[in-house]
Amino acid sequence: MRTPIIAGNWKMNNTASEGVALANALKPLVKNADCEIAVCVPAIDIPALSEALKGSNIALGAQNVHFAEKGAFTGEISANMLKEYGVKYVIIGHSERRQYFGETDETVNKRTLTALAAGLVPIVCVGESLEERETGKTESVLDKQLADGLKGIENLADIVIAYEPVWAIGTGRTATSEQANETIGYIRKKLGELFCPKCAEKVRIQYGGSMNAGNCKDLMAMSEIDGGLIGGASLKANDFAAIVNYNK
Ligand code: 13P
Repeated sequence: MRTPIIAGNWKMNNTASEGVALANALKPLVKNADCEIAVCVPAIDIPALSEALKGSNIALGAQNVHFAEKGAFTGEISANMLKEYGVKYVIIGHSERRQYFGETDETVNKRTLTALAAGLVPIVCVGESLEERETGKTESVLDKQLADGLKGIENLADIVIAYEPVWAIGTGRTATSEQANETIGYIRKKLGELFCPKCAEKVRIQYGGSMNAGNCKDLMAMSEIDGGLIGGASLKANDFAAIVNYNK
């Protein structure tokens, strides 16, 4: 059995004090949830959120990590810096980082291996653009992202994968639950070939892209979907709590 994981990706939203207020509003609403819960917050919010989430069932996540242990990388943050504040998850290779900040499958791979070595749980994002989907390239795009991005991982169950079709992010255009399930099923099949079928059965694969209180039940009912990576709807306590409590 794969334990579902619902994670909020706050992106570049919420100052530390706004983030603490959101976390405090969220805690009582999700305390009886059956799934794992995380919020992936801006780096500068991490110290305050680390305190605010103590003793709760909400884990702390970051949105990126550098692949070097330390050194001359102005503006970057290392795995040890995250660990010191009790960060558990780290999003790697989000499509916004691929699109705006030059993230490649190679850097995704380096960050993922570094995160794993530090004991962080990488949430590795993959997904195709609208043009790629419409020209029939979804599978080949995913094949490359998975093969190159996950190269050298020893235990696939140590990571979480987020399937986020770029055309569904922040657009209000969700993949249908059938589309999401089919593509996530494809990802699992591919992981079975790249690693081993048994390992692929163990890895949790989230769906991300305009997931909200209205569509989460249908998405979470699908056999291949093990959770969600939530952008916009994670910024309001009630909306995020409704997703976390999808089965209540
Ligand atoms: P939205 O939920 O706002 O579409 O964002 C999804 C996402 O990118 C999560 O990482």
